Amino acid sequence: MIVRQFLRDHLLGERQAALLSQGSIIANSAREAMHDPNLDLGRMMRAFAEQLRARVIIVDMQGLVLADAYDELTGHALAHPALPRSLRGKIEVLERQSPDGQSTLYALTPIFREQRGEGDPVPLPGWRVQIGVAFIASNLDDVYASLDLMERRLVVSSAVVALIAAAMGLWMASSITAPLMALTQVAGRMSDREHVATIQPSGDQEVYELGLAFNQMSDRIQALERARMRFISDASHEMRAPLAAMRALVDPLVGDPTIGVDKRQEFLLDLASEIDRLSSLVADLLQLVRLDSRIALVREPCDMANLTRRVVSSLSALARARRVDVTTNIPPELTCVGDAAALHRAIFNIVDNAIKFADHAVHIALSSNAEGLLLSVVDDGPGIPLAAKARIFERFFRVDESRTRSTGGSGLGLAIAYEVMQAHGGHIRVETAHGHGATFLLSLPSPEASQTV
Ligand SMILES: Nc1ncnc2c1ncn2[C@@H]1O[C@H](COP(=O)(O)OP(=O)(O)O)[C@@H](O)[C@H]1O
Ligand SMILES: [Mg+2]
Repeated sequence: MIVRQFLRDHLLGERQAALLSQGSIIANSAREAMHDPNLDLGRMMRAFAEQLRARVIIVDMQGLVLADAYDELTGHALAHPALPRSLRGKIEVLERQSPDGQSTLYALTPIFREQRGEGDPVPLPGWRVQIGVAFIASNLDDVYASLDLMERRLVVSSAVVALIAAAMGLWMASSITAPLMALTQVAGRMSDREHVATIQPSGDQEVYELGLAFNQMSDRIQALERARMRFISDASHEMRAPLAAMRALVDPLVGDPTIGVDKRQEFLLDLASEIDRLSSLVADLLQLVRLDSRIALVREPCDMANLTRRVVSSLSALARARRVDVTTNIPPELTCVGDAAALHRAIFNIVDNAIKFADHAVHIALSSNAEGLLLSVVDDGPGIPLAAKARIFERFFRVDESRTRSTGGSGLGLAIAYEVMQAHGGHIRVETAHGHGATFLLSLPSPEASQTV
């Protein structure tokens, strides 16, 4: 609507300007012709009318038509509402509509003649008299026709633009929602525990990154699920060995009444040691589960020096039996914050291994610096082969099954030590050269730094 108004004003303005300039040209020509009897005013106006495709009429000061390009009104009085004003020297432009709906633009230009005094070579400004009016009537049908055409084109092109915009909007929306919907579907299936799946990341940067993050999460869930299943199957497998051994010991005791007292006693002792093995395995498993859930850890000041000394003394019988010389370098007191029972367990597992695997000597040193405290346990045993070094802290991992049988371990001791150190914000690592002993290094952050545990 606003656009149509604007276009109409523009087109009409142009036409008005054209008529006005034509009007002044016609008025000038008419002035000449009105005073020169050799010039035919009627023919001149017909020529203008043809050129302008408009009706041109010249009126004298009485309102009588001197010349009409259509010849109809010559000699008659012209009746037009704007004529009286124009006869008083005013230039008039106006649009009128006939009863049949046709619009016409009228331009009325006064015709002046210079009043020249006798002997005055140059006419002075203002010295002029009006001698008539040039009247032009131009049909505006063409203006309105082109206005309609422009409007129709505008409507069609805006419809096309709107359609394109809508299509682009839809396309953009679907490029965002399609990957999100795929993600929602896969996530929904995953929450049903049906299966764990990844998706093909697509879409805009943000949506693409969401897809990548989803895949990472999915991978992690898969890894956790695999670890959980492996832990359960390994644990069951580990329990089967002592159970089978116990069965084998009980069977003859139950089935053979002739079995001698000595033999019976020997079987019962073996049975007791299998029961010990099984209960220590179960204790280790429980310990790992507790560490995994991180609920049972206490935070209290504990003296690591005292803890280490206790471990050494509780293992002194084993060291004596294995003829291993245990030396220590432990300060009188060294406080840290954590779960004393769990820390005792970790240190015990490391020192126990060292004594079991050492050839002759184990050295234990405890020290502290600004970052925290460091416990090193060095033995002169076979060390750990390079290939096994990376897996040494894995659950149930043993370097050599046959070698470990004799030492009677479950393969959980280092895994527990590792988890205890992790839970305390600490670290454990091993330095070893195969055949040249092993050094286990345990570090704990200082009490100030371990506030976050
Ligand atoms: N000080 C050590 N020297 C050589 N090998 C070791 C030492 N400590 C641990 N290992 C190896 O790491 C394996 C895992 O140890 P651990 O987790 O304590 O299980 P376990 O003692 O029950 O066998 C052991 O079976 C052994 O092969
Ligand atoms: Mg061990």
